Amino acid sequence: MTAEPQVPPFYTKLQGSLPPDFTWGYATAAAQIEGAWDEDGRGPSIWDTFTRLPGKIKDGSTPSDACNAYHLWKEDVARMKEYGARAYRFSLSWSRIIPLGGEADPINEAGVEFYSTLIDELIRNGITPWVTLYHWDLPQALYERYGGMLNKQRYTADFLRYARLCFERFGDRVKYWITYNKPGLTTRAKYAQGRNAPGHVSDTEPWIVGHTELVSHGYVCEMYKRDFQPTQTGCIMITLDGNWYEPWDEKDPRDIEAAERAKEFEIGWFADPVHGKGDYPASMRAQLGNRLPRFTEEEQRVVRGSSDGYGMNSYTAFYARHLDGVSDRSDYRGNVEFLNENSKGNPRGPETDTHWLRMAPWGWAKLLRWIWARYGVPICITENGTTVKGEHEGPAPAAPGEIVEDPFRAELFRAYLAEVAKACQEGVVIKSYFAWSFVDNWEWALGYTSRFGVTWVDYASPQKTRYAKRSAYALREYFEFLIAQ
Ligand code: BGC
Repeated sequence: MTAEPQVPPFYTKLQGSLPPDFTWGYATAAAQIEGAWDEDGRGPSIWDTFTRLPGKIKDGSTPSDACNAYHLWKEDVARMKEYGARAYRFSLSWSRIIPLGGEADPINEAGVEFYSTLIDELIRNGITPWVTLYHWDLPQALYERYGGMLNKQRYTADFLRYARLCFERFGDRVKYWITYNKPGLTTRAKYAQGRNAPGHVSDTEPWIVGHTELVSHGYVCEMYKRDFQPTQTGCIMITLDGNWYEPWDEKDPRDIEAAERAKEFEIGWFADPVHGKGDYPASMRAQLGNRLPRFTEEEQRVVRGSSDGYGMNSYTAFYARHLDGVSDRSDYRGNVEFLNENSKGNPRGPETDTHWLRMAPWGWAKLLRWIWARYGVPICITENGTTVKGEHEGPAPAAPGEIVEDPFRAELFRAYLAEVAKACQEGVVIKSYFAWSFVDNWEWALGYTSRFGVTWVDYASPQKTRYAKRSAYALREYFEFLIAQ
């Protein structure tokens, strides 16, 4: 395999703009890559059951085999090393470690062993593990027992026990922990839109579940800091989603307000309690009233300031237009309409293979500054990336070792990283960048139709054979150039 992308000349003034200890690498999630859904004692997650319901997944697929990473982990680590990654962010499958999930349920030592070996292999190869405890795959048994996150008390006790076990078994080697991945998006998709497992449609549950996520995150951080951090010297955070919302008509105060409200409903919902004033944004309280839970004093104390960094997943930007009138009860976006073009007809960016995603580095630049100004906490970019228009249709690579050309993805990395570098030069503190994703993988309700990887996966082959894409080498070049020696 050869690497030959050229660093475009306009980068010259950005050379060395990232600090020498800047972390970069790739991110994945257990349910999206592991497969082996019922091997070696793993219990089912809510996704294993949800995907068996007709019509839920775009291509009718399940994540039962996914990318076969459960078996290909060693090759994957070698490939990541070849790509130059300094770190790898992956998630643990809770039901692989505790098949039934609960605080009194038995541990599956084979599951613990799988992750322990992976962690050792990463470290042996100079790749720092970043571990997400929960990336959307609740053990099915907990959903059946008490409705999962709808039951704050019981769920929190179970999550605490699972987290403690992970700190005990892996914390000697794992120094970067993430409690939840992107709780905002998944909570809306799971409990308001019915698009993600367990597929509820409700106008109260999203806010109840969001509260459970915040509170249980807080208690896990408290436990980590008290019982583990002093000896293990790691850090812990939550990773939040958030795109940029620009007023549809930049001169209309109602659209200016709507764009701010959209960010508060998406980002402030979790970030204000954790990194801000310790409560939900006033705009949410005004619209949702008592449907939005209230923090007890103790909850507020535990949640506020709990996260050692601002974990940030972000991909795109939208134009936001205010909606007239009172929002209906099922509205979870802040009574705002999201559009692809602004009032002058300017598009938000070029299309990809994924309906919601357009390349929009202009919005990303604004978002980095908005987060820094509002919260002032060091930013850890834990996900960013893209699919490529038409890539899913192929052509698939023909020969072993063939490199897949994906100039659009390489260009997206270049454009977004330029904004990271500029923001760093201005004094915004950014610690990491993880590209989503290391391999093409199973994209939840979109099944296998959205390829986000820098590695092509031949889903039809029994082994899920991998082929490098050119963007993997481009990314390595970009970081060699941007990180100060
Ligand atoms: C989620 C991933 C998902 C990606 C693209 C992310 O923020 O964490 O699970 O595949 O977005 O939709």
